[in-house]
Amino acid sequence: MIVLTKDGRNAELLKFEPVHADQLLSYLVNLSGESKARFGPHPFTPDGIEKVFGSSCEIRGYIALEAGTDQIIAYSLIKAGYLEADGIRYSGYGFQLPASAVCTYAPSVADQWQGSGLGSNMFEFILNDIRQSDFRTMILWGGVQSSNSRALVFYQKRGFRVAGEFEHDGPNLDMYLPLPDH
Ligand SMILES: CC(C)(COP(=O)(O)OP(=O)(O)OC[C@H]1O[C@@H](n2cnc3c(N)ncnc32)[C@H](O)[C@@H]1OP(=O)(O)O)[C@@H](O)C(=O)NCCC(=O)NCCS
Repeated sequence: MIVLTKDGRNAELLKFEPVHADQLLSYLVNLSGESKARFGPHPFTPDGIEKVFGSSCEIRGYIALEAGTDQIIAYSLIKAGYLEADGIRYSGYGFQLPASAVCTYAPSVADQWQGSGLGSNMFEFILNDIRQSDFRTMILWGGVQSSNSRALVFYQKRGFRVAGEFEHDGPNLDMYLPLPDH
């Protein structure tokens, strides 16, 4: 699917396939130090990529390519259920969400494309892809750092609500989004 960003650039959104692994590695290692400090769902190595998608279909990857090139400019993950540490915190908040009704979301956009609306374009693409699933609630993968103001605005505008706060290398927020019934 081709989308037009707010600043007039074209990007192609598609699902990650193992054939994209080399491009994905190049995308990940070229993220700025600041973005790497915000986004780290798995090691940025060939092995880290292979393991996260390897034998399991419970994690789906999504990528954006700069139109007309094979260069990845955004990458997001959706995992069915909770990461263990996230699940423990959500039970502590009193959330009674069975893992089968939850998906866990981790977004990233290349530094030169952040603020262009590409993260929002990809989020809509993902919502469409999971709309036939049994997921009722989306939560953030490892929460979001309270200092990550762009991501906080991004999540709030998409309807995410704060579930609770926790400390991990500084203050963080857990946020969740009730998903529409289908
Ligand atoms: C968070 C992220 C995925 C959002 O994607 P994006 O393409 O930059 O987001 P968008 O442009 O679609 O939307 C960002 C929103 O924040 C606002 N914004 C832009 N720059 C901002 C800033 N410096 N501070 C606060 N808000 C800002 C924009 O106005 C926009 O709102 P809009 O809906 O009115 O346009 C992306 O910025 C990113 O990859 N950041 C680094 C990694 C990261 O933090 N991942 C999330 C970990 S929890």
